[in-house]
This record gives sequence, structure tokens and C-alpha cells, in this order.
Amino acid sequence: MDSNGAPHGTQDATKNDEEPNLEQDFTCSELGTKQYWDDAYQRELRTYKDIGDVGEIWFGEESMHRVIRCLRKENVQDDAAILDIGTGNGILLVELAKSGFTNLTGIDYSAAAVEFAKNVLEQEGLSNVKVEEVDFLSGAVTLAGFDVCIDKGTFDAISLNPDSTVDGKAHYLKALQGALQQGGLFVITSCNWTKEQLLHFFRQGFDFHRELPTPSFTFGGKTGHSVTALVLKRLH
Ligand SMILES: C[S@@+](CC[C@H](N)C(=O)[O-])C[C@H]1O[C@@H](n2cnc3c(N)ncnc32)[C@H](O)[C@@H]1O
Repeated sequence: MDSNGAPHGTQDATKNDEEPNLEQDFTCSELGTKQYWDDAYQRELRTYKDIGDVGEIWFGEESMHRVIRCLRKENVQDDAAILDIGTGNGILLVELAKSGFTNLTGIDYSAAAVEFAKNVLEQEGLSNVKVEEVDFLSGAVTLAGFDVCIDKGTFDAISLNPDSTVDGKAHYLKALQGALQQGGLFVITSCNWTKEQLLHFFRQGFDFHRELPTPSFTFGGKTGHSVTALVLKRLH
């Protein structure tokens, strides 16, 4: 995985296998470690303070607009409780607030990311947006009652953790089931997993709602997507 959404690990880049391996896993990477994100966001925070550059926007700016257009299309109310899982620099929260959403929470397990996001939000005059240092997998903080949960690259990062890819994904599913209201929407953008793999993984407690269009590419005569964006609905 890289910030432009280039596929990472062992997956076939075309994502078009006729018989996809639904449980396929990846070569682990430092992108799955907290140390990596702490270092990255400490660096990016310094740069932000020096020159005001917010750094990497994972999957590019369009990935944020795609999510926001989707929420509007789904008639998500301005005051809906929205959780950004693994918010990083908090730019998605800024864009959500600018588009009119008023009940926003971002979480990240990296203290540096949380400090960074708070700085960015404060600079934008959006100190009412909540950002908390929370490990989504730990269960130590109860997250519940959200109408929408958004994940842009965080499930990917968790899937790459060298210590516990299987455990991490199972904890993720449990935490997501707890955080999202029944009937609530889960909007996930991933470059490590195909649509089929995501639907398979989130089959317990979630229904496929729709797929968001992402740029496609053709390679070796096959057309595929390097980024998958899906909307799933929490079952009643
Ligand atoms: C690929 S970055 C994406 C950041 C942001 N969502 C974006 O689109 O720019 C992955 C983010 O997930 C965070 N993260 C990884 N594992 C996490 C966990 N267990 N709990 C909370 N945040 C986590 C990282 O610190 C990092 O900010």
C-alpha cells in the first residue's frame, strides 16, 4: 500500500481473478506498526508547523470527495454521528465539517497523529471536532452509537501488522460492530483488499449497500481497480 493507493503485498494487481482467494493475506510491512505512524506523523507535524503543508492525503483528494458525495447521496443528516477510524492528519474531518457535517469524531492510536489533526482543525477554526487517541482494536474505550463509520486506509494498515494480522482484523470487526448503530453505514476505502474480499470479511453483521466508483486501469489485457471503495450497512 502507498498513499496513492498502489496495491501492496502479494495480491494480484488486476484484482480480477476468476476465483479470488477470499482469505488471502499480505506480506506484512512496517505500515502495520504504530512506530511507523508515530514517526511519520511527528515528521509531518513538524513540516506542517514550518510551512503549513498537511502532508499525505491517502488515496488523494478525490477519495475524500467521493466519501462526502456518497454521504450526501445517502441523505446522511448534517448532525449524524460520524466516526473517522484512523484519522491521521484529520483532513477528512476538515472536509466533512466544511461540507456541513456537525457531529464529527476522529480517532487514531498515534499520539502524533492526534496532535497533528488537532493542530490542523484548530487552524481551520474547527475546534468543535472531537479527536481522540484511541486504539480501535483495544476495546479499552467504548465507541458506540455512530450513524456512519469511515475508514480510509486504516483497515489496510491494520491488515499489514506483522504481529497480529488475523487477530487485528477480528478485533476490528468486533469494534466496528460495536461502534456502528444498526442500519448505520460503513464506508471503507482500501487498496489491499478487493470488493469480494471485503464483503467476505465483513459478512458477519454487514450487508453490501453499494460500491463507489474509483479510477480503473488496464494491465495485461485485464481491467481492474487499484482502490476499492464500498458502502456496507450494519444489519438490524
Ligand atoms: C493509511 S493511514 C490513513 C490515515 C487517514 N485515514 C487518511 O486517509 O489520510 C492509517 C491510519 O490508521 C491509524 N491506525 C492504524 N492502526 C490503528 C488502530 N489500531 N487504531 C487507531 N488508529 C490506527 C494510523 O495511525 C494512521 O493514521
